[in-house]
Amino acid sequence: MHLVLVHVFLAHGSGEMLGKDQPVRLQLIETKQGMSPLKGVMMELEDGAFPLLESVKGTSDLEEGFGDANFSLLVGAMPRKQGMERSDLLSANAAIFADQGKALSATAAPGSRVLIVGNPANTNALVAAANAPDMLPEQFMAMTRLDQSRAEGMIAEKAGVDVKDVDRVIIWGNHSATQYPDVSHARIGGRWAKDVIKDDKWLTGDFVSKVQKRGAEVIAARGASSAASAASAAIDNIRDVHLGSDKWQSIGVLSDGSYGIGGGLWYSVPCACPGLHYTRVKGLPIDAYSAKMMSATEAELVAERDAVRHLLPSSYDAGVPLQKLVALKEAWDANDKARIQEASKSLPARFQAAVKSALSS
Ligand code: LMR
Repeated sequence: MHLVLVHVFLAHGSGEMLGKDQPVRLQLIETKQGMSPLKGVMMELEDGAFPLLESVKGTSDLEEGFGDANFSLLVGAMPRKQGMERSDLLSANAAIFADQGKALSATAAPGSRVLIVGNPANTNALVAAANAPDMLPEQFMAMTRLDQSRAEGMIAEKAGVDVKDVDRVIIWGNHSATQYPDVSHARIGGRWAKDVIKDDKWLTGDFVSKVQKRGAEVIAARGASSAASAASAAIDNIRDVHLGSDKWQSIGVLSDGSYGIGGGLWYSVPCACPGLHYTRVKGLPIDAYSAKMMSATEAELVAERDAVRHLLPSSYDAGVPLQKLVALKEAWDANDKARIQEASKSLPARFQAAVKSALSS
């Protein structure tokens, strides 16, 4: 049993993820071979006598495991071992996420949220979403919160402040060694982080590469991928999206063309979390250095996407650009049939079919 899960379950049972008054029902999916260790975890959960834990079920059946789920954490991937690059995991793991996307689409609760933690998280999110025809891309998030926490921790240490005083550190792009931890908009106690730290060389040099390589550093030290910190970041991500946060939070979400990033990638951007959902923070000024870093991580995601094309259904058009959905909604709200038909033309077949049937009913 992956240690990440154990931490998440314990936090879930004690209300740290969804609130102290939210009862939870856990549905745990394991491979058939992993059922015995899973039983051990279930016993520990029982023994914890968590007042919020209504029930715990273990299964190796994806549809049973995702059935009616409101929140799903996809951590089940082959973990990276020392010396492996994340791209080595692509072929092994992406297929697992295609099956999970299908099962989620068939059985999860409407409007459910899915957080992809297993690597390569961004491209796994793309594969899962592409294989979930009855869900919207917005429901799938790839986790870059761990990178954000790492970056915030390093900034706080450098400035000699408490980490809670650091905000607006952004992780752009892929949860990988190409990610761009950006402090151009960051603040420390309300002041520009750059003005407090006064060390641009560090901020664009050692700081960036340390955040980028921290996952590999942890693997080298403990002989296994991060577990406790990854679990903590997953809890933070779900909690902030569900319960709200007054800080920006970086999340890998469908690229919608903002900041010039398109192509249906799951690209990490800063998000506002007002509660129950997230919205992308748009329109930030991007300097030349940042633009270069953002393009480099985009290029890696494009290559990853192209490497898993065989797992994307042929009807999948690399994501539905949000602008198109917005245009459709506006036409719908205006009850303008001609505009509705026009707006639906460029959408994937399943959307066109849904619009046609809604118009004729
Ligand atoms: C991490 O950032 O710690 C992990 O995602 C590293 C990895 O590749 O497992």
